[in-house]
Amino acid sequence: MDSLVRPDRYPRSSRYDQSWVLSLDMGPHPLWLLEDLMRDLDLRPGMRVLDLGSGRGATSVFLAREYGVNVVASDWWVPAEQAAEVFSAAGVGDRVEAVHAEAHQLPFEEESFDAILSIDAFEYFGTADSYLPYLMRFLRPGGQLGMATPGMTREVRELGFIPQHIRDVVGWEALAWHTPQWWRFQWEITELVTVTSARLQEDGWRDWLLWTRACPEPSQSVIDMLEKDAGELLGFTLITARKNRSPG
Ligand SMILES: C[S@@+](CC[C@H](N)C(=O)[O-])C[C@H]1O[C@@H](n2cnc3c(N)ncnc32)[C@H](O)[C@@H]1O
Repeated sequence: MDSLVRPDRYPRSSRYDQSWVLSLDMGPHPLWLLEDLMRDLDLRPGMRVLDLGSGRGATSVFLAREYGVNVVASDWWVPAEQAAEVFSAAGVGDRVEAVHAEAHQLPFEEESFDAILSIDAFEYFGTADSYLPYLMRFLRPGGQLGMATPGMTREVRELGFIPQHIRDVVGWEALAWHTPQWWRFQWEITELVTVTSARLQEDGWRDWLLWTRACPEPSQSVIDMLEKDAGELLGFTLITARKNRSPG
């Protein structure tokens, strides 16, 4: 557990009880990804933020506590009542609202968010050409968008195949793991947003491996995949953007 407290790299996340984060685990360490992504965003207290694909809620608690924002935690697999219990136990029940919604049928008013963030979820629903335009309806002009998702140093389409060590673990789902350059183009070509940063997280694969090993029931197949890859292809793409005030 001590290896998960890393104040030099993740000062804010390191103040959290790592066993609490582990109890909400659904993949890689969500607070590490969010804290890194936040280096490229500017959230102010009182802003209304959508945490899209918020899962069991660790990132929504973090956003409310660390940045004083009001969060709508929207997720599909996790019932809203379950997430609401996490928010109330963490003392942020008054600032985080749990919503059960599918990402293509969001029950929100147009231009009602100052920021939309998504940690380790966009790969499940956000790669279609039509998705960014749909999502941008809910963001106010000038609002911020930030996303962290499993990423690759090269496109599967460029390789022409899914490398065996990745295919063995995630199969065709790796088609949704894109390079920062892919995401930048995909978003900017719409002229709906201006991308403000797009990068592969430095040593992201090492964080992923460290966290996976620490989980109560570590996934040996994920460990094998990451060890075999050793950062050659795998990591996390972190991308941020602002919604344009007018097209272009
Ligand atoms: C790997 S979990 C990550 C959860 C959380 N962000 C975290 O990092 O702990 C992926 C999340 O994406 C959400 N998700 C997947 N497909 C979705 C969809 N079509 N609409 C809305 N959410 C979806 C799931 O409900 C799940 O909680």
